[in-house]
Amino acid sequence: MSEQSTTRVTVATLAAMKRAGEKFACLTAYDASFAAVLDAAGVELIMVGDSLGMVVQGHDSTLPVRMADMIYHSQCVARGSRRALRVVDMPYMSYDTPEAALSNATRLMQEGQAQMVKLEGGAAQVETVSQLTMHGIPVCGHLGLMPQSVQQLGGYRVQGRDAKDAQTILADAKSLQAAGAGLLVVECVPASLGRDIAQALDIPVIGIGAGPDCDAQVLVLYDMLGVTPGKRAKFVKDFMVDTGSVQAAVESYVRAVKTGSYPAPEHCY
Ligand code: KIV
Repeated sequence: MSEQSTTRVTVATLAAMKRAGEKFACLTAYDASFAAVLDAAGVELIMVGDSLGMVVQGHDSTLPVRMADMIYHSQCVARGSRRALRVVDMPYMSYDTPEAALSNATRLMQEGQAQMVKLEGGAAQVETVSQLTMHGIPVCGHLGLMPQSVQQLGGYRVQGRDAKDAQTILADAKSLQAAGAGLLVVECVPASLGRDIAQALDIPVIGIGAGPDCDAQVLVLYDMLGVTPGKRAKFVKDFMVDTGSVQAAVESYVRAVKTGSYPAPEHCY
């Protein structure tokens, strides 16, 4: 187990890392035991993702996940983690109006011990992001492939392949930053678009299937441990194969993100 400082990671820490050109590592977790493993391995940000609807609850999308589920899993992660920044997903339809978003984000912060909330969407979420940040709730945006819109998108597909879509995603990224978002996740876009967004924004950009030039990377923990059954997405690498223990696999992922060896060309669009 690697020795890590116990100083809490904050959004300011991550912004300073971006300015220094230092990449940081993020992973999802949904319980105290895995959160402790991630903390010990030096993961800077733990995402309590609504992906738990798929990998923990066994649904075929994130849509059935409820506020009560997010609060419960966020509380579990909070008990296991001392260092990493804890970012918690706002579930489907919990932020359909700025008022609902404020009330539900407050619950995630107060009951779930979230340190930041994440929501999906671009221009349509600008007012909500302003509302939350105005009330002292840090917000992480999520653009590109937005799993809560899977029915509208017609599947889990790469986004921003044509120039017009890419421009819309880039413009949305700038609008979210202007509205006060402190971090941005960009999922499943061509590596060139991931790079353009990271270069255009001052806030850290966390890629998942968005190429090596984002400021950070995130994966669903179960995917990078090779637990998820079925065909793997192109951007996923199984870090268990060459390591043999969960702790070593997570440490290997952290090293690969920080040195830039993950994602490799075969993981990019
Ligand atoms: O739900 C989730 O776990 C996520 C991350 C993988 C970005 O949104």
